[in-house]
Amino acid sequence: MLDLIVRRARLPDGRGPLDIACSQGRIARIAPHIDAPAQHEVAADGQLVSPPFVDPHFHMDATLSLGLPRLNLSGTLLEGIALWGELKPLLTPEAVMARALRYCDLAVAQGLLSIRTHVDVSTAPLVGVEALLEVRKRVAPYIDLQLVAFPQDGLYRAENAEENLVRALDMGVDVVGGIPHFERTMEDGARSVKHLCRIAAERGLPVDLHCDESDDPMSRHVETLAAETTRLGLGGRVVASHVTAMHSYDNYYASKLIPLIADSGMHVVPNPLINITLQGRADTYPRRRGLTRVAELRAAGVNVAFGQDCTMDPWYPLGSADMLEVAHMGIHAAPMTSREAMAWAFDSVTLGGAAAMGLPDPTLREGGPADMVVLQARDRIEAVRLRATRLAVIRAGRVIARTDPRIATLSLDGRPTRVDPAAYAPPEDV
Ligand code: FE2
Repeated sequence: MLDLIVRRARLPDGRGPLDIACSQGRIARIAPHIDAPAQHEVAADGQLVSPPFVDPHFHMDATLSLGLPRLNLSGTLLEGIALWGELKPLLTPEAVMARALRYCDLAVAQGLLSIRTHVDVSTAPLVGVEALLEVRKRVAPYIDLQLVAFPQDGLYRAENAEENLVRALDMGVDVVGGIPHFERTMEDGARSVKHLCRIAAERGLPVDLHCDESDDPMSRHVETLAAETTRLGLGGRVVASHVTAMHSYDNYYASKLIPLIADSGMHVVPNPLINITLQGRADTYPRRRGLTRVAELRAAGVNVAFGQDCTMDPWYPLGSADMLEVAHMGIHAAPMTSREAMAWAFDSVTLGGAAAMGLPDPTLREGGPADMVVLQARDRIEAVRLRATRLAVIRAGRVIARTDPRIATLSLDGRPTRVDPAAYAPPEDV
């Protein structure tokens, strides 16, 4: 007997309605109608069923700490880093773990089942590492959690950060992190990129650097990262995160740089929710948006995957583990409103994120893992437009979260009316 059948699913590529049969944690069959007994059934009723959401960039050691020990008054990245420095000595592994596990519950409810989180390793003791290694173990049955050893205060700027980073990797942290634009000098930044790539190459690990998260057009560490990626053959194992300075590069330099990034095979992870609020703070008007060049990177063939970065922490007072909210902001901030680009934005927070994290392609297919989300939307664009309700979240063929559909009941002139936000789709041929 099958474990589960999802009835009348519409797939992200538009095919459907199709039944999806799940057995022993895998998708056994996808067909127009599957006539077989199953222990459980989920009625998708022609709605979109997609792979789960993926967040390739998060800070789980800081999440849900908003207001501890105080709020970020200027709203800048630098005050956020200073505030995090005030909070760090007060952290305990128990408190970090409790907040992280609460966040993971929220993530599951939102169909977010793969997360790469940076964890600060710049100061000992490694409270965040200790806590998140335990969280990684506890959530493993339902969330693929990767940890990045992140020297938040600078690999060379913070005392003993290098030693702490290596120790975190020895403890089992998955990815080498860095923050070249925050080192004391451009030279130190470039040196940190080379050193971190060497560590990753020697250990066979991926690299994920906060790279040029700055409005400074002279912050050009991503070119060093691309060059080292090519030189060491690290290709698909490297992520440049944020890369907001690219917004401020002159067009000639960008036209030289983007092909180097594409040739290196590295991924770029912009974080639109955070950078639309953090960047341009020192500008008067016009005020820069500070999102990296998404359309140009895509056109060059670079895998661009949007990340969330923060939820209710020293850097960002909002957030809800909703990768559709992230894609929605990416569309606005880029800006990119063609039908093709909006559908791509959905793929960016599913397929693109998985590629950036080095995970297997999560496209729903026979033989693949039975991990999926049923959305209250007919297609990818509608899902982003509505930040669609996750009607059911399925992991290894088991329903692990359900949410009631969002349908309002109106009382107008004594005539009750039901309003389904998904009832306003454009004609099929648009
Ligand atoms: Fe970040």
